[in-house]
Amino acid sequence: RFTLSRGGPLQGKKVVITAGGTREPIDPVRVITNRSSGRQGYAVAQAALDAGAQVTLITTPTQLPLPYGAEVLSVETAAQMGDAVLSASAQADALIMSAAVADFQPVQAAPQKIKKSGAPPAIELRPTTDILSAVAAQRQTLQRPRVVIGFAAESQNLLENARAKLQAKRLEMIVANDISAADAGFEVNTNRVVFLTPTAEPESLPLLSKSEVAGRIVQRLVEWL
Ligand code: CTP
Ligand code: CA
Repeated sequence: RFTLSRGGPLQGKKVVITAGGTREPIDPVRVITNRSSGRQGYAVAQAALDAGAQVTLITTPTQLPLPYGAEVLSVETAAQMGDAVLSASAQADALIMSAAVADFQPVQAAPQKIKKSGAPPAIELRPTTDILSAVAAQRQTLQRPRVVIGFAAESQNLLENARAKLQAKRLEMIVANDISAADAGFEVNTNRVVFLTPTAEPESLPLLSKSEVAGRIVQRLVEWL
């Protein structure tokens, strides 16, 4: 691997970005996943590269072209993503957690394909580890990453729910995303978000392309790093 010398305001900064929806196996052919397309995370990776950062993109399988110049780590499950994030974050200046991480995983993936001939199976679930909370704990000893940004996908009580996550996960910023609107959130090219930080007033952005939202996020990184 070589490092491009690009110049730009984030030159020399290491930025870790997660993207896509995790996939939790039920059996060898079936998974539990979600509607995340990876677009917003890939756009953040591209914007960070354009600003000259050294980018590690931790991604689930998506339909998107890989951003040129990023180090790409492919993962599937929440547990794999968590391991990759904790290890990459130890050296990073910033983490942007755009991925839609499963909250629950099957207690056990069936070793063989489940056949339809039997009774419909009950799939027992258990909670996954919250990656951002694990990063917050690791940060207390390593002091890295200096900046951690999360996303909050909400279908109701957007600001209230997002602020609770900002505090619980000890983030520098949360990008609150109202997924009840048809032109924002999953599987579309546009997003309508609010930036929440622990101290400033919430900043509501207009309807923007996911690239434009990414640019605004990277502007914050430039200010803070
Ligand atoms: N997240 C995480 N680890 C998880 C689940 C979520 O790090 N196991 C991160 C997401 O990547 C996102 C932020 O936490 O940046 C908020 O995710 P969200 O799903 O909105 O919130 P949750 O804390 O999972 O709560 P809930 O789904 O109940 O609203
Ligand atoms: Ca969740």
